[in-house]
Parts: sequence; C-alpha cells; structure tokens
Amino acid sequence: MNISSRTTERLVHVPLGDRAYDILIGPGLIGRAGGEITARLKGRRAAIVTDENVAPHYLEALMDSLQTDGIEAVSLTLPAGEKTKSLEHLATVTDMVLAARIERSDAVIALGGGVIGDLAGFAAGIVRRGVRFVQIPTTLLSQVDSSVGGKTGINTRHGKNLLGVFHQPDLVLADTSTLDTLSEREFRAGYAEVAKYGLIDKPEFFDWLEKNWRQVFAGGPERIEAIAVSCQAKADMVVEDERETGRRALLNLGHTFGHALEAATQYDSARLVHGEGVSIGMVLAHQFSARLNLASPDEAERVEAHLRAVGLPTRINDIAGELPPTERLIEAIAQDKKVKSGKLTFILTHGVGEAFIADDVPSSEVSSFLESKRSA
Ligand SMILES: NC(=O)c1ccc[n+]([C@@H]2O[C@H](COP(=O)([O-])OP(=O)(O)OC[C@H]3O[C@@H](n4cnc5c(N)ncnc54)[C@H](O)[C@@H]3O)[C@@H](O)[C@H]2O)c1
Ligand SMILES: [Zn+2]
Repeated sequence: MNISSRTTERLVHVPLGDRAYDILIGPGLIGRAGGEITARLKGRRAAIVTDENVAPHYLEALMDSLQTDGIEAVSLTLPAGEKTKSLEHLATVTDMVLAARIERSDAVIALGGGVIGDLAGFAAGIVRRGVRFVQIPTTLLSQVDSSVGGKTGINTRHGKNLLGVFHQPDLVLADTSTLDTLSEREFRAGYAEVAKYGLIDKPEFFDWLEKNWRQVFAGGPERIEAIAVSCQAKADMVVEDERETGRRALLNLGHTFGHALEAATQYDSARLVHGEGVSIGMVLAHQFSARLNLASPDEAERVEAHLRAVGLPTRINDIAGELPPTERLIEAIAQDKKVKSGKLTFILTHGVGEAFIADDVPSSEVSSFLESKRSA
C-alpha cells in the first residue's frame, strides 16, 4: 500500500450498485455541504438531526451552506449521549421529519457522532419506507466506522442496537475540521477503531500508524490519510458482505470482549467508552490467540505497546471501579454472540494483520483466560 501524505481532500467511493455513494474526507466540508448535496440528490428539503454538543459549533454553518444552495432545512437538537438512541427519541425524530414534509427524494442529515448517525439513519430508513440520508460525522469513531456501511439502530432494555435497519447513506461528508473540538479522550477512543483496520488485514497500515500516530493526533495530513485508509478498509468489507453474513464480521475484532466490558460497566461513559473497550478487547483477542497457540505472544505485546503509547487502556484492570465476576462477563459474551453447544464465535488472529473468524471457541477456554487476566 502506498500511503502518501497529501494535504488535499480524499474521496472514497463505495460501489454498491444502485446504493453506491461517495465519502468525502477533508477540512471545511460543512461549508460546502449544500453544493455537494445538490450535486447528488434531487430533493430540495432537508431535516438535520444533531446533538447539543455539536450544534453550537457546526449547525449554523451547515444551515447557511444548505440555504445558499437552495435547500430548505429544519433542525432538531437532541441531548448528547448513548441514551438518545431510544424509541422515544426515534419517535421525536420521525415526527419532526414528517412535519418537515420530507419526501423520498429529500434528505435526513445526521450531524454528529455515531449516536446521532445511528438514530437519524434509522429514521431515514423507515420514514416513507426510506428517504435519502446524508451523514456528516463529527467524531473520529463515526468518520472511520459508523457513518460508513449502512447499519442504523437504537438500543432497547434488552440490549444495544437491537432495533434497526440497513439503510446506506447517499453521501458521507467527513469534515476533519470538526475533530478540532472533539475531546482528546473521544479522539483516542476513535483511534482504536483506526488501529483495528491495521490489525484485521493491513499490517503495513499498522506499521505506518506505529510511526505516524503523533501526526494523526496532531491533525496534519496524516490524520486525513488515516481516516481515508480506514474508510476504504470499511468500504471494501461492506461491499464484499453488505449484510454481515461472512467476512464483515472481522470488523468485530476486539468487540466481543469489548462489549462485555461495556456491559460490565453499565455503559457508564465516565468509566469506559466504546473505543476504550475495543482497545482492551483487541489486546485480549491477541493474548487469547497466543494462549491458544495461534499466534506468538510477541504480537500481543506489540499491539499492547502501541495502544498504550497513544494513551488507550489495554488491560481489564485499567478500568476504574469494581467489575462483576468472570461468570457475568461470560454471560455477556454469550448474549452478544451466538453460542452453539458451548462454543463461541470469536475473531482471533495469527498476528498483526492476520485476523480470522473462529466459530468453535469453547466458552470454558474463554473463562479460564479471562480469569487469568483479571488476577494478572
Ligand atoms: N452503525 C455502525 O456501524 C456503528 C459502528 C460503530 C459504532 N456505532 C455506534 O456509534 C455510537 C458511538 O459513536 P461516537 O463514539 O461517535 O459517540 P457519540 O455520538 O456519543 O459522540 C461522543 C461525544 O462527542 C460529542 N461530540 C461529537 N462530535 C463532536 C465534536 N466535533 N466536537 C465536540 N464534541 C463532539 C458528542 O456530543 C458526544 O458527547 C454507539 O452508539 C455505537 O453503537 C455504530
Ligand atoms: Zn466499534
């Protein structure tokens, strides 16, 4: 792979037939949103969904740009945070979209992180059986992961993301300038997902990140490059397996352990945010693979050293406060994954860039491994 350091904007095309779309990555895209949208969509109305942290920074600029290009837009600002991915807020959003007389050729626009993208995308997927959808992701996590691929949804009391539809966006505008107002902690959490693409099947990208992560954090051209490589990696996976019946599951590397840790902290973002759980989860996946003699322990050490260097948590014991007993973690893992006669599906690895899907992992092995890590 040739990773150059161009300052210019990047375009990743997602070739999904009649659902194909572009992802634009670069600074200042919100100021050009109107033009980019009118170039691609017929409708001239839009309903913007955003949250209270994002609106004060970017909503006005977006409204101005839409107006300049003749798009009539209304907006809805919701509370920030995971709790907003609820049925109640879905009702508020769909109601506002209908009140704005959004037709099928008009757009719902998500301006915010993955929470807003998942909620607004779900609304766009079900209003009038599907209206156009534009993602303007404003967190690193949403720029490299959730805004691409068409998974939308909300949480219920039975668990995360249990109601939702596949609804691909028609355009993704990843305005990298918005990351300047994101907290260091949220940026780092998103970085775990960037590193994930290297760990899955791009060892040369992981090498590059080890050398260039400081520039990625500092916001130079390397940041745009890292986001573009990540979007391309996700797009490739989505094009190969749009509805996750096979290979797309590799994107869950680190997520089985990570989700169990998120559940164990009751999704308390003060203790653990998603990307931090994924960071610990990816290290655990490498260590577990080493324990099963699938990979050298040096690989796990290398992964941990990098994630630690950027300031991410890498160990279960890095999580503040008490955690439930290991059996409860295993229950959470079993709930997250299909269990077939005591066997679990896991993303394991032969080393950096060599992840694979294993569907026959005995849950007893997972228990004894986790037990050993908690006392370590
Ligand atoms: N659909 C998918 O494929 C997919 C993939 C991964 C994650 N997700 C979902 O994404 C969600 C997590 O997304 P997230 O990490 O973006 O969380 P988020 O949307 O909650 O954003 C994190 C925090 O940053 C704030 N924020 C957002 N942009 C900002 C900016 N530019 N400046 C200042 N503050 C800003 C938000 O208000 C929030 O407080 C989860 O619900 C997860 O399930 C979905
Ligand atoms: Zn994730």
